[in-house]
Amino acid sequence: MSTAMPAIEHDIKDISLAPQGKKRIDWAEREMPVLRLIRERFGSEQPLKGVRLVACAHITTETANLARALQAGGAESLLIASNPLSTQDDVAASLVSDYGMPVFAIKGESTDTYRRHVQTALEFSPDIIIDDGSDVVATMIKEKPELNKKIIGTTEETTTGIVRLEAMMTAGVLTFPSIAVNNAQTKHFFDNRYGTGQSTLDGIIRATNILLAGRTLVVVGYGWCGKGVSLRARGMGANVVVCEVDPIKAVEAVMDGFRVMPIAAAAAIGDIFVTVTGNRHVIDRDHFAKMKDGAIVCNSGHFDLELNLVALRELSGEPTNVRPFVQEYKLKNGNRVMVLGEGRLINLAAAEGHPASVMDMSFANQALCVEHLIKNHKQMEKRVYPVPEELDKRVAKLKLESMGIKIDRLTPEQEEYLASWDEGT
Ligand SMILES: NC(=O)c1ccc[n+]([C@@H]2O[C@H](COP(=O)([O-])OP(=O)(O)OC[C@H]3O[C@@H](n4cnc5c(N)ncnc54)[C@H](O)[C@@H]3O)[C@@H](O)[C@H]2O)c1
Repeated sequence: MSTAMPAIEHDIKDISLAPQGKKRIDWAEREMPVLRLIRERFGSEQPLKGVRLVACAHITTETANLARALQAGGAESLLIASNPLSTQDDVAASLVSDYGMPVFAIKGESTDTYRRHVQTALEFSPDIIIDDGSDVVATMIKEKPELNKKIIGTTEETTTGIVRLEAMMTAGVLTFPSIAVNNAQTKHFFDNRYGTGQSTLDGIIRATNILLAGRTLVVVGYGWCGKGVSLRARGMGANVVVCEVDPIKAVEAVMDGFRVMPIAAAAAIGDIFVTVTGNRHVIDRDHFAKMKDGAIVCNSGHFDLELNLVALRELSGEPTNVRPFVQEYKLKNGNRVMVLGEGRLINLAAAEGHPASVMDMSFANQALCVEHLIKNHKQMEKRVYPVPEELDKRVAKLKLESMGIKIDRLTPEQEEYLASWDEGT
């Protein structure tokens, strides 16, 4: 029976949740045709045979399907959570029970447990690390430098992790090639924009059951995620206000039809606030102090430091839990501020993360980049690489094929024209 305790090392919530997790993994798989094709090819070609791989990721149904593809390719994988609140416990149970993978991830785990799991991942002595936020890579460089020599390379899933990797490269401590999977066009154009856009609102609605129509929703950060959240919130009838520090992004938001103003001004008029900057304390003490009674605040950026919750606590005292994933802070001025998901990414804390069809492309990139590292690492330098363009385009082509959509091709005449310079008016 699938719920029997297997002899696989793990630290998960409850192995008996496996049957439900398995059903949900299979459900997501139906929406991941590109990853399925890769899994089938990996199964016959075995390009990852014998490779020890650590995946630090949100332990969701989609990640489970990435793990299946890597396993089919011959990799020995160990999985840990990339965030204390993003684990789906039933998925973790099924990965252990049905797929025989060591998993160390529990929804709501403490920061100490999270850090212990990072140590466990490093003790596994991986050849390749798939990281999400760069905590595993940063810990290895700081605390286990002896592993650096064994590492073939790493791949990084998210914007925040790439900022950290580039800082490591500048500091001269990156001693292996790393591929910035987030920066593939088939990743951030779709996952960050449409995935975060939809699932962030899903998280807010599941946590609060609030009506968005007619509310003022403030989006802090108009990058890929912020654009998606703003677009989808407008679609549901919210009045969207954007806060930015980059003048170009701010002009873009204005021309996309949104009101733009500093957070100090937006703080007083917002009903709902969403941060997606990858930066710290973008909603700070003074902003909380100005908020209306009942304001709802959440974050969908990678780390939980976008909201200065320490300052909010100082303004209000300890919060009370009013619903799952909703904490009410009563300020000394009498106003109440609701913080969702303890300031952790709300789409994963209170909802199920991105829909599978968008993660299909992100994780196809991950799987193909792992294969690329195995084939090419000897010729690669110790730096952060973009995803090879050919691979990015291959993912897009496969996605179109899976959707039954055909597109045009350049004719030889058009190719010649585009390569020439002498033919004008
Ligand atoms: N929730 C999820 O599932 C999910 C998915 C993808 C990415 N992310 C995370 O979301 C964050 C944003 O990712 P992205 O791809 O949109 O990045 P991005 O670089 O495209 O956009 C971030 C934007 O925030 C702006 N910004 C920075 N500091 C600011 C401040 N103090 N006030 C206002 N704006 C500020 C920047 O100018 C930039 O335009 C990252 O932490 C990323 O890792 C989360």
